[in-house]
Amino acid sequence: MASSDAGENEMVVTPWEVRGKVDYERLIREFGTQPLTEDLLKKMSKYTDKLHLQLQRRVFFSHRDLDTVLDLYEKGTRFVLYTGRGPSGPVHIGHLVPWMFTLHLQQKFDTRLYFQLTDDEKFLVDDEASLEETRKFAYENALDLIALGFKPENTFIIYDVEDIDLLYDVTLEVAKRITYSTARATFGFEDSTNIGWVFWPALQAAPCFIHKKLTGENVPALIPAAIDQDPYWRVTRDIAQKLGYHKPAQIHCRFLPGLGAGGKMSASMPETSIFTMDPPDLVKRKIWNAFTGGKGTATEQRKTGADPTVCSIFQYYYYLFEEEDQRLTEREHACKTGEMLCGECKRDLAERLNKFLEEHRKRREKAKDKIVEYHIKR
Ligand code: TRP
Repeated sequence: MASSDAGENEMVVTPWEVRGKVDYERLIREFGTQPLTEDLLKKMSKYTDKLHLQLQRRVFFSHRDLDTVLDLYEKGTRFVLYTGRGPSGPVHIGHLVPWMFTLHLQQKFDTRLYFQLTDDEKFLVDDEASLEETRKFAYENALDLIALGFKPENTFIIYDVEDIDLLYDVTLEVAKRITYSTARATFGFEDSTNIGWVFWPALQAAPCFIHKKLTGENVPALIPAAIDQDPYWRVTRDIAQKLGYHKPAQIHCRFLPGLGAGGKMSASMPETSIFTMDPPDLVKRKIWNAFTGGKGTATEQRKTGADPTVCSIFQYYYYLFEEEDQRLTEREHACKTGEMLCGECKRDLAERLNKFLEEHRKRREKAKDKIVEYHIKR
């Protein structure tokens, strides 16, 4: 596939590759999405009481048609949620961030979630992958989703390979209306791209529209997801109304930075990510080796302070592990002034992470007994 010829540090954001320093303002301009404004957030908080941490801190920072969806909601048209996961491996903390926000939306708006596990996509795009493996990870990843607390009544998990019969007619309707030229321009297909991959985007579009087929109700889908998925929604939005559906709306989040210097948390660099199944000692070790904004020596850092803006550890507090704004500010201050050194900050984080993961794994284990209740074909 194209796109990889950009220089080392140049930003590349596609559904299959995220590289370089991500400039989110630039993505809003280049993708043509809308920033989340104060007004829109105020509208949102009418339904959610307090604004969710991830909105307040602009972890979710951009959207398409969120205003339209809320306007319709106000007039009595509900919406459904749709998001998903490419099961290429185990789940890490970065994956959980948008799912937690999705759970919040599901609870506040009492609405259905369709969750697509794309065992077919990950098989097609990775030369090494086998279907057996991607299907196994789909099951494993579903456990992590369920462990977050989604209720089965409102949650419908789609395993593409197993559920293709359900998706196929909608997928065909979509595929017929997207030309190769549009798909190539959007996704960067080349002559060497396998034809499964070329067709595949129609499958990611299908769950946007599946609710009508299942219930008869024609309502918009709202998709909370990282911004790298946006190209799919661009092509889907273009054809939605021709097929008699609402355009799917999106709310886009940032990538949780990895523990290395710069870049997102990448499953292909396991030492830069905390996976949900990482044992406590490994979590400690990864945190201990993480990139921070600290100085060469403790003496120097006590004197001149450190830089939280480049620190991967601070990002974890910001995204997930320090919900109190006041406390976050205090931590930032203690860092900048050299009052608190990196060792202490890392130890705190490792503790919080391990506590969280311990609980998560208990719920994940319980999810094994009820996973069938979440299957779209239950
Ligand atoms: N393509 C996504 C990935 O590789 C998986 C996915 C399918 C998805 N449908 C989605 C992600 C809807 C977000 C929203 O991870």
